[in-house]
Amino acid sequence: MVSQDFLKELPKCEHHLHLEGTLEPDLLFPLARRNGITLPTEFPQTVGELETRYGQFKDLQDFLDYYYVGTSVLIKEQDFHDLAWAYFQKVHAQGLVHAEVFYDPQSHTTRGIPIEVVTRGFETACQRAEQELGITSKLIMCLLRHMDPQEGLQTIEDASRLLSSGSVHGIGLDSAERPFPPELFVECYERARSINPELQFTAHAGEEGPAKYVSNSLDLLQVSRIDHGVNSVHDEELLQRLAQEKIMLTVCPLSNVKLQVVSRVSQIPLQKLLDANVPFSLNSDDPAYFGGYILDNYYKVAEEFPHWNHEVWSTICRNSIEGSWCDAKRKNELL
Ligand code: ADE
Ligand code: ZN
Repeated sequence: MVSQDFLKELPKCEHHLHLEGTLEPDLLFPLARRNGITLPTEFPQTVGELETRYGQFKDLQDFLDYYYVGTSVLIKEQDFHDLAWAYFQKVHAQGLVHAEVFYDPQSHTTRGIPIEVVTRGFETACQRAEQELGITSKLIMCLLRHMDPQEGLQTIEDASRLLSSGSVHGIGLDSAERPFPPELFVECYERARSINPELQFTAHAGEEGPAKYVSNSLDLLQVSRIDHGVNSVHDEELLQRLAQEKIMLTVCPLSNVKLQVVSRVSQIPLQKLLDANVPFSLNSDDPAYFGGYILDNYYKVAEEFPHWNHEVWSTICRNSIEGSWCDAKRKNELL
């Protein structure tokens, strides 16, 4: 097995990280107090109780029910900034060099917080991470698939200026995968593309949903990568396509175990993806909820795939840089 020092030193890129998913219990309660938010009575009332509950998610929906309560303590621009800045500081110590990070504007705008406030808080943290830590980053705005697609469309309209100005670099699709297939969001993606043809596109697919959600995300939403995508392995033709078109899957090992997509990391079909030449990156998804940040995910995969040598890890790292949405100059610096 490769050493932990080797994994730590690798120039890591993260492509699947929900900023709201970095809200640690020990920040959640102080923020709730600072902002005068009363948490639901059935919600755990101490850091210890909450951490215990986080260890027992039944599935994606069970996790999301906690995740959306968590987001409710974020109110002010400073809250969003502090949250993202805490994330960047943590992963800087883990060898992260580039991050493409998600946020869910609708989980804030539905509570009356303007999209500009949320985005500015996150954007200023991204700028600070580059200046102070040398970590480059891109913001990806996700639409919530459990909400009415017409509301998604309105969110795209409300974000027009942010999408045109470069504040937001890409569009994604997250939240409960089933029964909300990608075809529901075709108009949203088309509208975003018409606002700024330079935007990048991705979507969660094939986490709990079938391989068909992956191929439909490619065909109908015209995404250039797929978040999770592990269920793609059930469709050989799709695997060949992912390899041929160099569609990167942003795999989240600890998340897949915590949300019971698999019972242990060794069951994630990473070897099959490698053998089929399907590029993937390793990511933390919602690290405050799933027990580990980027390097913890690398460590766990190395432990469960002990036969992977330096060459395999270098391939993963190179694919992860090449699949990033940063420009060629930055990629060359990282390679
Ligand atoms: N939102 C935050 N984490 C998510 C995940 N793993 N899948 C779908 N939506 C999410
Ligand atoms: Zn995710």
